[in-house]
Amino acid sequence: MYLALHKNQNDLIIVAYSSFKQFYTMRKILITGGAGNVGSALTAKLLQDKNTLVTVVDDLSTGSLSKLDLTKTNLQFIKANSNDRQEMTEIMLSGRFDYVFHYAALVGVKRTQENPIKVLDDIDGIKNILNLSKNTGVKRFFFSSSSEVYGEPVSIPQNEDTTPLNSRVPYAVVKNVAEAFCRSYHQEYGLNYTVFRFFNTYGPNQTTDFVMSKFIANALSGQDIPIYGDGSQSRTFCYVDDNIETTITALNKDLFVNDVVNVGGDVIVSILELANIVIRLTNSKSKIVFLPPLKDGDMTRRQPDNSKMRKILNRELVTIEDGIQKLINAPDFLKQMNLI
Ligand SMILES: NC(=O)c1ccc[n+]([C@@H]2O[C@H](COP(=O)([O-])OP(=O)(O)OC[C@H]3O[C@@H](n4cnc5c(N)ncnc54)[C@H](O)[C@@H]3O)[C@@H](O)[C@H]2O)c1
Repeated sequence: MYLALHKNQNDLIIVAYSSFKQFYTMRKILITGGAGNVGSALTAKLLQDKNTLVTVVDDLSTGSLSKLDLTKTNLQFIKANSNDRQEMTEIMLSGRFDYVFHYAALVGVKRTQENPIKVLDDIDGIKNILNLSKNTGVKRFFFSSSSEVYGEPVSIPQNEDTTPLNSRVPYAVVKNVAEAFCRSYHQEYGLNYTVFRFFNTYGPNQTTDFVMSKFIANALSGQDIPIYGDGSQSRTFCYVDDNIETTITALNKDLFVNDVVNVGGDVIVSILELANIVIRLTNSKSKIVFLPPLKDGDMTRRQPDNSKMRKILNRELVTIEDGIQKLINAPDFLKQMNLI
């Protein structure tokens, strides 16, 4: 038996592996932002493989430990700022990770608009973690970019290769710069990467900073449903399971190596339509209220060309109605929203 010392939040815990060899042959994965909406779902799925050791690094700024199953012995959690060079150096030198999923970021349209300098700090984190990945033998670096890199759409649907990028707001600029860093690290040092451009992704672990969870929480508690502008701005929505199946298949089957892939749903829904669907499915008496449009960053339209993603999933995506039903019936979501 081999006993390894792991740091779990603030405690050191001893984990028993059947052998020294077992520990060293385990697949070691670092997930920054792993206590967030998408990161926690990715963590939970990866932990199902007993031969995978997942290390989550998160500063818990928008994430929460309640989204992680800390009883899993193949999970370790480290509270740290992924933009802090010294902290990340210690973590990555000792972790010797095979794969890195860099998902930590300052997110949310309002939060990023209110903190335009702090958003740009994420560039430091991306650069440091890429550098450490290159120096510690990471086999592939996965990055959560965003549909925001396309900015106000030049054409619809937005294709990874042919649609010009139109990043203007700081959050989008950061994602665009990060993609450039991935390509450059590959070109100069041979570090493999995959860039996922996520389009609106919702799930039981999302905070109410985002339109889907906010509308459902408000509808279930009978509060007004606020819409910025006239609600004609349109989006597509992706249930988190579709996102996670795509990204884990990309990892396990060596797909999209040194490539970019849109990860999102392709059914266009206006924000006003979304509010009405939520009201209907929750059987709510909530009223829709219209607020002044956001100053910047609320794109009029967005729709991915998701043919690359569809090809590997090879099944229908979760419909918006089914996704909303899943949330209404998810105890984790209802607990997070203080609805039970
Ligand atoms: N969910 C979406 O619709 C969507 C769309 C496009 C892109 N993305 C990207 O996907 C990633 C995950 O987003 P999410 O929806 O899960 O958001 P989230 O806010 O739920 O998750 C982000 C996580 O990162 C953590 N974090 C933030 N800054 C950090 C730092 N400096 N150090 C350590 N931890 C930090 C937060 O505490 C949180 O747990 C982000 O990079 C985001 O930009 C998400």
